[in-house]
Amino acid sequence: MNIIVTGGAGFIGSNFIFYMLKAHPDYRIVCVDKLTYAGNLSTLKSVLDNPQFRFIKVDICDRPAIYQLFEEEHPDVVVNFAAESHVDRSIENPEIFLQTNIIGTAVLMDACRKYGIKRYHQVSTDEVYGDLPLDRPDLFFTETTPIHASSPYSSSKAAADLLVQAYHRTYKLPVTISRCSNNYGPYHFPEKLIPLMIANALNNKPLPVYGEGVNVRDWLYVEDHCRAIDLIIHKGREGEVYNVGGHNEMRNIDIVKLICKELGKPESLIIHVQDRKGHDMRYAIDPTKIHNELGWLPETKFADGIKKTIRWYLDNRTWWETILSGEYKNYYEQMYGKRGLHA
Ligand code: NAD
Ligand code: TYD
Repeated sequence: MNIIVTGGAGFIGSNFIFYMLKAHPDYRIVCVDKLTYAGNLSTLKSVLDNPQFRFIKVDICDRPAIYQLFEEEHPDVVVNFAAESHVDRSIENPEIFLQTNIIGTAVLMDACRKYGIKRYHQVSTDEVYGDLPLDRPDLFFTETTPIHASSPYSSSKAAADLLVQAYHRTYKLPVTISRCSNNYGPYHFPEKLIPLMIANALNNKPLPVYGEGVNVRDWLYVEDHCRAIDLIIHKGREGEVYNVGGHNEMRNIDIVKLICKELGKPESLIIHVQDRKGHDMRYAIDPTKIHNELGWLPETKFADGIKKTIRWYLDNRTWWETILSGEYKNYYEQMYGKRGLHA
């Protein structure tokens, strides 16, 4: 099996590559990544010399380059993680979100149509469903909940999902879509809630909570998400959407307080800052379909996952410190300058 993984130098994509190389040592994994600010090649350094692995620096919107890659690799499966993924950045500047998240998805699927594919898998998000009210804890997102996105980020992901479904209906492209809740774990870029709070707390810097901090997210350990995608690409039904989430709802403020407690830092570091525009109140996934059809259940409990994650950030300070200093951007040149681009 030859799998193209786009966005593999980012948070979930890199964890997926590690997971797949371990779970299926006979598979070939080709990582396609533009290395935007969110892509960090040093994350992948433990696999760069693995003969089953290839890294190529390409923008998924670059049609000729993507077509050339398909000609070279004849992939069996494409798993598309590549995206602009930060809601706050999408509020500041939506355009790149439309380009990468929508046009990039179309380019990848056009390549799949042209060269043939066994499965195109779109990694989507529960944010396409919009949000749920805080006073209705009985409500959950199911696969039939209407799309009702709130932010430029989530609407670009929703647009991509609609395109994926249209390519299935129109061209019979063998697609699947997963819509997952918020992930946490190793290699999470320190602009997102959990890694930002860990890094700031360790540096005794203020912990900026948006508004009152009562917004609720449904947190899933990243490896559980990777296992869900592995199951879907092998056993999921073509044309289907699978929600992925672990019934683990937490208020932002409680997460930040927990991080303070685990790190022995005072809650006086917490500051309440201006709320995010259009801030979604609550996300909550109903994962019944993936459980019933594919037997998936989350394996890592939040109490354990958050401890493991904090431990990882303590043990891998250089990883996030070189991001904060901007130094991580030089890694590609260091690695590939001297190698003459093993792309
Ligand atoms: P991330 O921002 O950490 O990583 C994105 C990766 O995509 C980076 O390596 C970046 O360099 C690459 N990329 C961006 N634009 C590209 C382009 N035009 N061409 C090629 N590569 C490009 O994101 P993440 O948190 O790992 O999320 C991965 C996917 O999972 C996204 O599609 C996101 O919508 C989805 N998702 C994320 C979460 C979450 O909690 N992080 C939850 C559900 C779904
Ligand atoms: P984030 O990690 O950006 O994920 P998403 O917006 O995709 O859910 O944010 C998670 C929650 O944390 C969200 O409700 C916004 C909030 N938040 C803060 O309160 N402070 C911060 O500095 C950040 C980055 C997020």
